[in-house]
Amino acid sequence: MAGENLIQVNQDKCTKCGLCVKVCRGTLGLGEQGPEIVHDFCIACGHCVAVCPNGALDHTRAPLKNQVLLEKSPVPDVETAARFLRSRRSVRTFQKKPIPRENIRELLDIARFAPTACNSQGISYYVVDDLDTLKKIAAVIADWAEEDLKHGSLGKSPWSQNTSNTIRCYHENGEDTILRDAPCLIIATADKNRFPLGRDNTHFALTYAQLYAPTLGLGTCWSGLFEYCATSGYEPLLKLLKLPESRTITGAFLVGYPVYTFKRLVDRDPLQITWQ
Ligand SMILES: Cc1cc2nc3c(=O)[nH]c(=O)nc-3n(C[C@H](O)[C@H](O)[C@H](O)COP(=O)(O)O)c2cc1C
Repeated sequence: MAGENLIQVNQDKCTKCGLCVKVCRGTLGLGEQGPEIVHDFCIACGHCVAVCPNGALDHTRAPLKNQVLLEKSPVPDVETAARFLRSRRSVRTFQKKPIPRENIRELLDIARFAPTACNSQGISYYVVDDLDTLKKIAAVIADWAEEDLKHGSLGKSPWSQNTSNTIRCYHENGEDTILRDAPCLIIATADKNRFPLGRDNTHFALTYAQLYAPTLGLGTCWSGLFEYCATSGYEPLLKLLKLPESRTITGAFLVGYPVYTFKRLVDRDPLQITWQ
């Protein structure tokens, strides 16, 4: 059967307990010699390798050597977890300080571990950390938003008032209300043929990065305006970015060192659930 070589079983270590088969989506079955491929639709999630208590299973596309051993569950207690998640806020005022590229690399590296549909992955990033280019991008988005508020979907959106105000302040007060004078804009892209899946995947990946950012002393803010302008296909923006033809923009956020520290946790509308 095709895919036969995907897994390698160390017979000295395998106890044939079948855990790898139980966590698998149906690719593995338990044979006389232990786990074996019975259906050819492996998505390389690596669960079979990760669950084995003896390190008996290796997988060509999810190698054992790449999976870090987890001795003890790192799950924080409920209060720590809730406080951590509720402490994330958008940052819109950044210090005029560049971010070392190795820190950006570290920030985006964590995003690789976010879940993707069928383990499709495939998100890649374009990072703009040149201040002149960032200014040009903001100016181009302002032009697009102004036009779109008159004739396009922004004008019809419930947030049109908010966007009008953003653009007015950009022109009148000379404030960068679009890219917030951030020292860095991170643009996520996916294969053009994988849209809208790539966009869904991106949102989880960017959320991972945004939650991790404070660990590096960084603050972040989604840039919806950038994303909407880019996905509308606005030529002046796409010309500035010069992305390969095969990629499409699936999300973006601003990042930098925050000026202000928030002293309170996020609050939102009350939870709504319907039990059925
Ligand atoms: C998809 C998305 C797009 C957003 N776009 C922008 C944006 O273009 N500019 C901006 O200043 N904030 C943007 N935000 C930030 C929201 O305004 C912010 O998340 C919301 O007001 C709640 O505040 P908090 O993130 O501090 O909790 C965006 C957020 C999301 C989730």
